[in-house]
Amino acid sequence: MAEQKQIILTGDRPTGRLHLGHYVGSLKRRVELQNSGKFDEINILIADDQALTDNADNPGKIRENIINVVLDYLSVGLDPEKTTICVQSALPALHALTFYYLNLVTTARLSRNPTVKAEIQMRGFADEGLPAGFFCYPVSQAADITAFDATVVPVGEDQLPMIEQTREIVEKFNKIYGETLVMPKAMIPENETQRRLPGVDGKAKMSKSLGNCIYLSDDAKTVKKQVNGKMFTDPQHLKIEDPGHTEGNVVFTYLDALCTDEHFGRYLSDYANLEEMKEHYRRGGLGDGTCKKFLISVLNETLDPIRTARAEWEKDIDTVYDIIRAGTLKAQETTNATLARVRKAMRINYFDDRAIVKEWDKMLKAAKQ
Ligand code: TRP
Repeated sequence: MAEQKQIILTGDRPTGRLHLGHYVGSLKRRVELQNSGKFDEINILIADDQALTDNADNPGKIRENIINVVLDYLSVGLDPEKTTICVQSALPALHALTFYYLNLVTTARLSRNPTVKAEIQMRGFADEGLPAGFFCYPVSQAADITAFDATVVPVGEDQLPMIEQTREIVEKFNKIYGETLVMPKAMIPENETQRRLPGVDGKAKMSKSLGNCIYLSDDAKTVKKQVNGKMFTDPQHLKIEDPGHTEGNVVFTYLDALCTDEHFGRYLSDYANLEEMKEHYRRGGLGDGTCKKFLISVLNETLDPIRTARAEWEKDIDTVYDIIRAGTLKAQETTNATLARVRKAMRINYFDDRAIVKEWDKMLKAAKQ
């Protein structure tokens, strides 16, 4: 067998604009992976079908956010020359694969998926009734991953159960039908701060409904308002002279995730690096206002090039449309080829050739003897 190609597949549900949590936790990494030259293929799936599993009554929201998410991708530096961006609903092979894989998974196993369990609670499905499509979306995610022959799936920690289920499906499929599907591996962010950037209010996650996000497309005024108005610091640090805590202090969590020594040279030259700044804060004598002002500068320096790029792309939605159309057509070829391989392995590829006619003929004759 030829040497295994290194193929990346990852994706997002288009349910809102992407925020700083996405940037720190995944987008920045994707751009680095894209530019590392270490991968034979990089695919990013806009998982609009998966988004519909809990938004069936609101397809308009998904439609709007497809373009928002693509604009965010392009603005952070994902390059359609190197990365294939595609739309899930236009890849019918994924639907077919999902249907076959559903037979390889038990409902008991699906019920144990911790991410789905948590989401069921969060969305109130436990009381209202659980849409079967939502319950089964990990299987559709296994179809996404295997359809691209992905070897590496860069995701957040919350997605590990999906990769685990995918691996189980791959193992089971290959055992029953012969070696066909490629075994994927998850790749999660290296350090703690990248893994989970809290909301500005200190809540575990940025979420639209909590209003605690900083969006990549937010302007400088909005960022300032979020930081000065909502950002959680150290409740025990009342007076500037008081010693302060940097652990669990959102300003420092964000600085951990984003600031470099160069930022100090440009915006806060009293310190050479974040460690010196933190020491001063812990000792007492460094005010929250100064810290927030510095953070705002760091945020704006990070977001400015993204905002500028987005403004340019927004002027040319025709081109953006062509980019995802081309990416999707390419992905159709890839995923159709996998589906053909799968059907062949299952020997349900009846219309590829007429070989089955001979087989049926022989069987019918044998039955008469
Ligand atoms: N479930 C992922 C999320 O909510 C999105 C997703 C869909 C995905 N298909 C995927 C991620 C395939 C990785 C691979 O973020």
